[in-house]
Amino acid sequence: MQNVTFNRKHLLGIRELAPGEITHLLDTAENFRDISRREIKKVPALRGRTVINLFFEPSTRTRTSFEIAAKRLSADAINISVSTSSMSKGETLLDTARNLEAMAPDCIVVRHSMAGAPQQLARMGNAPIINAGDGAHEHPTQALLDALTIREYKGRIEGLKVAIIGDVLHSRVARSNIYLLTKLGATVSIAGPGTLVPAEFAELVEQGLSVERRIEDAIEGADVIMILRIQRERQDAAFFPSMREYAVHYGLHPKHLERAAADAIVMHPGPMNRGVEIASEIADGSRSLILDQVTNGVAVRMAVLYLLAGGGHAEVDADATERIKHAAKAETRNGTTNGKRKRKQGNETPNR
Ligand code: CP
Repeated sequence: MQNVTFNRKHLLGIRELAPGEITHLLDTAENFRDISRREIKKVPALRGRTVINLFFEPSTRTRTSFEIAAKRLSADAINISVSTSSMSKGETLLDTARNLEAMAPDCIVVRHSMAGAPQQLARMGNAPIINAGDGAHEHPTQALLDALTIREYKGRIEGLKVAIIGDVLHSRVARSNIYLLTKLGATVSIAGPGTLVPAEFAELVEQGLSVERRIEDAIEGADVIMILRIQRERQDAAFFPSMREYAVHYGLHPKHLERAAADAIVMHPGPMNRGVEIASEIADGSRSLILDQVTNGVAVRMAVLYLLAGGGHAEVDADATERIKHAAKAETRNGTTNGKRKRKQGNETPNR
């Protein structure tokens, strides 16, 4: 039996995870990725379990992929958004959560504009809580799917140079990625307008983080370029003169790619502001892994739901993970998957 290295009840952030826990989540997601490449994309792993998606902010990718993930694991998935819940009548977040808990869900996935909302629910309730993005704090499953995508195309995380460009201040994606990538041995360069790069990251310099003012300096020699969305909804002040100005100085343009490694890949968590933080020819170009990130989001969320909503029985988890791995390998050997070609590591860049 393999050693189980993820025994937490909740997934609230990347910051508190050990490197081994992150690697275990990624390995489990890799096994689940094969299920989504089968003709019949369903396994009975969470049959009889109930997953509630509680979203207080808009979402396309995260909410949909949690729902698809739950259904591919045979769980019952219930989606609740603020406009259709009693919060629109004045009920508090905690009362809403208490009422949902009274219906005995096996897991609650929560997205909220308030940093710390999932932690609050985890403290007061019984159900496992998964943070699907809390304010500008953390978005752990996004960082995990980004890491899974990097591992898929680069074969490793350790030793890579990753440039993270843009609105770091308001970005939960940047925070979770910075914690994850530095824990797994990547070096990370962040760049953006001074007003959008927080001083708090200075403490991570010893762990392999550098803060650059110019986008060109962060991208120099980068293996991975992650572009962040300008988060207009979280900006309560003028952090830069205009979108046009931002696009000129901090938008990713084809000329920037000449400075990166020859096989550099480009990522964006979505939703994109085309022509602002990223030029369309890059977003749709051969180096872009933006849609691969979305694909891997389902596998990561299957893994997280499986480990957290599966009843918390570590030994069962280990056995079942092994079974899934063997079944997926057998299907691949038999040629029953329609998985995409694994790209060679080296100079070959993604080509879609
Ligand atoms: N990346 C991400 O969280 O996208 P959504 O807001 O669409 O979920």
